[in-house]
Amino acid sequence: MKQFNFLRFMLALLVMASFALTSCTKEGPAGPAGKDGVDGTDGLNGSDGTDGVAGTASCLVCHTKVNMDAKQAEYQLSKHFTGNTSARFGKYCARCHTSEGYLEVTGNGALGVMNDIPNATRVNCTTCHKHTGFDFENSADTVSLIMRVTDPVTLVYNSESVDFGALNNTCVTCHQIRGMTTPKVSDTTGTPDPTFVQLPYFPLDNALENTAVQFKVGQSFSVHDGNQANLFKGIYGYEFAGKSYTSTWTHSDNNCVTCHMNELSADGTRGGHTLLVNEEKCAECHGADIIAQIQDEVDFLRVQLGEALVAKKLFKKATNNEGIVSYSAVQSHDYYGNLFPTTATSTRFGVSLTNSNTVDPKTGLVVYNSIVKADVDAAWATRIGRDWTYGELGAAYNYGYINSELSKGIHNPTYAKQLLQTSIEYLNAH
Ligand code: HEC
Ligand code: HEC
Ligand code: HEC
Ligand code: HEC
Ligand code: HEC
Ligand code: HEC
Repeated sequence: MKQFNFLRFMLALLVMASFALTSCTKEGPAGPAGKDGVDGTDGLNGSDGTDGVAGTASCLVCHTKVNMDAKQAEYQLSKHFTGNTSARFGKYCARCHTSEGYLEVTGNGALGVMNDIPNATRVNCTTCHKHTGFDFENSADTVSLIMRVTDPVTLVYNSESVDFGALNNTCVTCHQIRGMTTPKVSDTTGTPDPTFVQLPYFPLDNALENTAVQFKVGQSFSVHDGNQANLFKGIYGYEFAGKSYTSTWTHSDNNCVTCHMNELSADGTRGGHTLLVNEEKCAECHGADIIAQIQDEVDFLRVQLGEALVAKKLFKKATNNEGIVSYSAVQSHDYYGNLFPTTATSTRFGVSLTNSNTVDPKTGLVVYNSIVKADVDAAWATRIGRDWTYGELGAAYNYGYINSELSKGIHNPTYAKQLLQTSIEYLNAH
């Protein structure tokens, strides 16, 4: 038995060598078609014990040049290829923003990478795919299409385990609430406090709803841009006391791949490995405009909540050159916990963190360099002049939760609308 497997392995190696060849001779003239291999009739690896030279058929399900080239072309339309976020190779970012960081954390099960990874590369075929073996008969490889991560994912925020299925846990490992932010550094000495700050103001316990809390310079309650998996599951929004929330929605039984890797469009620009939703396929069940319609509904509530937060001076509003309006939270207290005044004074406060941490190009290690800037408060006119409450923080957090999810609530319109609506109600009632 052992020997049989060994032979099969040697065969696999031969097959590999031929792949290497096909990909190297891309530019050369096409040779005559080779003789077909002696594949097992069942297309599996010698499953009945008779077709000992089988195996290539199971490889060729994927490894034809045509198929692999097509995947490559599709992948090159995806943001994983066109974006440039692999420049975010810092040790708090690299696990999701770089291929090397992802391989490190999925290899050792850690929450973050050990060190910054300068020269890291973008998400690519090998980030998502990994052969664990070449036995495609009843093997996990066949079911999972050799995805690197197939097990349920332990979320970085709150360590809850979620299972989106073998094909999707890969996506969820990155597309989730970040949980980790950059380390804090003491003001004058520059000494780093390297602890991960996990959404410092929460767990999202609504028993504290009307309790005072200082929203300080240097602390953030942001969930980060990649929170698709959390919204999809309807978890980790701030849920107000006495309100009811529904986590499930119409497409709860679907997953990332059903929509983002649906059938390739005729022109090859949507669906498949482009990861762009092929909306023509959605139209088979309902109008394709359902997406825009839902997004408008959610966005209407998002703006309403933004305005309600501005009215309370929890947020401020800005309009850029292109007329795009944005809302951002205004700290009530400086870095040290001193209440900001609401009139101009000559008192100096810890108004911001300046200088970013850098990476030593020789050692690849972080040089802690964030320093607190002491200055008079130029933003006094936008300050609230009192503590926030946890309920207000929850409303502001919910704004960020939906706003940073660039799909405008499409990953769970039910939960998204409830979070926004109940936040507005809380602000109106308090
Ligand atoms: C479910 C599809 C699938 C099947 C079936 C499959 N492979 Fe792969 N294989 C892949 C993908 C995807 C990659 C990753 C490509 C990359 O990283 O560039 C890969 C990578 C490889 C590599 C590494 C090549 C490189 O460029 O680094 C080898 C060797 C390989 N496969 C051999 C095989 C053999 C032998 C079989 C059959 C026993 C097989 N594969 C079956 C999808 C498959
Ligand atoms: C290693 C982490 C990682 C994995 C694994 C991953 N992604 Fe991503 N994804 C990212 C990052 C980072 C970006 C932003 C890329 C950029 O802007 O350069 C992104 C971008 C995207 C985008 C484009 C978003 C936009 O703004 O247009 C989609 C869609 C997407 N991913 C879906 C998926 C799906 C579906 C999977 C699983 C099949 C997946 N991702 C797996 C990290 C990952
Ligand atoms: C848990 C995974 C995860 C971690 C850790 C993470 N990100 Fe991201 N980040 C993502 C994903 C996924 C996206 C893409 C979301 C999208 O396009 O919708 C993203 C997008 C971004 C974007 C917007 C796209 C861009 O690059 O301009 C910025 C900025 C960003 N991340 C900064 C950071 C920084 C800085 C860190 C480290 C302090 C970090 N991220 C850590 C998952 C993560
Ligand atoms: C973001 C993660 C991700 C990246 C990057 C990625 N794949 Fe995949 N791939 C998947 C998922 C998920 C599936 C299974 C779902 C499906 O095919 O609908 C899959 C399936 C496949 C399959 C088997 C299905 C088929 O139609 O043959 C092949 C082959 C494949 N990928 C090759 C590649 C190659 C080559 C690259 C790089 C150019 C690549 N993949 C990059 C996630 C990824
Ligand atoms: C019901 C279909 C559906 C499912 C399931 C789905 N998405 Fe999406 N997703 C969309 C649509 C529609 C958009 C809006 C952009 C577009 O039209 O392509 C989108 C946008 C995105 C974006 C870019 C905008 C953003 O939100 O930052 C990312 C990244 C993303 N999805 C990741 C995922 C991940 C990861 C999963 C699985 C947890 C997932 N999606 C599940 C339909 C879906
Ligand atoms: C197999 C049928 C089917 C397919 C395919 C399908 N949907 Fe749906 N979808 C439904 C049903 C049923 C509803 C609920 C009834 C309605 O609103 O029309 C729905 C509702 C929705 C909603 C509104 C959910 C809510 O709670 O208000 C969104 C968003 C959505 N679909 C997105 C998509 C996207 C994006 C695709 C394509 C990737 C897609 N759907 C493909 C059946 C489908």
